[in-house]
Amino acid sequence: MSEVTVVDHPVVKRYLTILRDKTAETAPFRRAMGTIGTILAYHALDHLPLEETQIETPIQPAKGYQPASEVVVIPILRAGLSLVDGIISFMPDAKVGHVGVYRDEETHEPVNYYHNLPNGIEEAYCLLVDPMLATGGSASHALNFLKESGAKNIRFVSLISAPEGVERLQDDHPDVPIITAAIDEKLNEQAFIVPGLGDAGDRYFGTL
Ligand code: PRP
Repeated sequence: MSEVTVVDHPVVKRYLTILRDKTAETAPFRRAMGTIGTILAYHALDHLPLEETQIETPIQPAKGYQPASEVVVIPILRAGLSLVDGIISFMPDAKVGHVGVYRDEETHEPVNYYHNLPNGIEEAYCLLVDPMLATGGSASHALNFLKESGAKNIRFVSLISAPEGVERLQDDHPDVPIITAAIDEKLNEQAFIVPGLGDAGDRYFGTL
């Protein structure tokens, strides 16, 4: 069963409150998403393999470290883009791939409409990101695609997860750890997370 990390931190709770508040304007909403993205990246990269390197400090030779794998951040379009700035401000040399999946509003089934992954995905340390894990359909679909594309080392990063989505990913992809800032109560009849924050993509892009 996949490992689930809920990042329980006072600063995360504060920014989550801004994100959940329906009166939040676009600018503070984006800033909060960026800050939490950075904090989630800190946790999602905590097993990044390193190799030793030799450097010279101004005082003497010293041992240093550098990533042994490339990091590839893959947002699920559109809403996944909202976490990318925060993640790459923590890991500025990460590559960014894209997977376009939307959830059909009537069937709630995922539909794939775009993908573009960098070369070397097979050896990379991949972070699939989407702020909302609702039914888990989109994330599971995107994970199937990444695995078919050769990715082997993948973590899923979300802001808010529903218990139903966590369970779905644990069933479909038990090898993929989940890093999230909150596990909410449930899904409603429209498969929206309760209490959640509404439609993350619309709120981040100002398309409400
Ligand atoms: C939302 C969200 C996830 C998906 C979650 O995207 O950003 O991708 O739904 O739902 P699921 O876990 O039930 O699949 P949406 O389809 O609204 O597209 P958008 O990102 O373009 O707004």
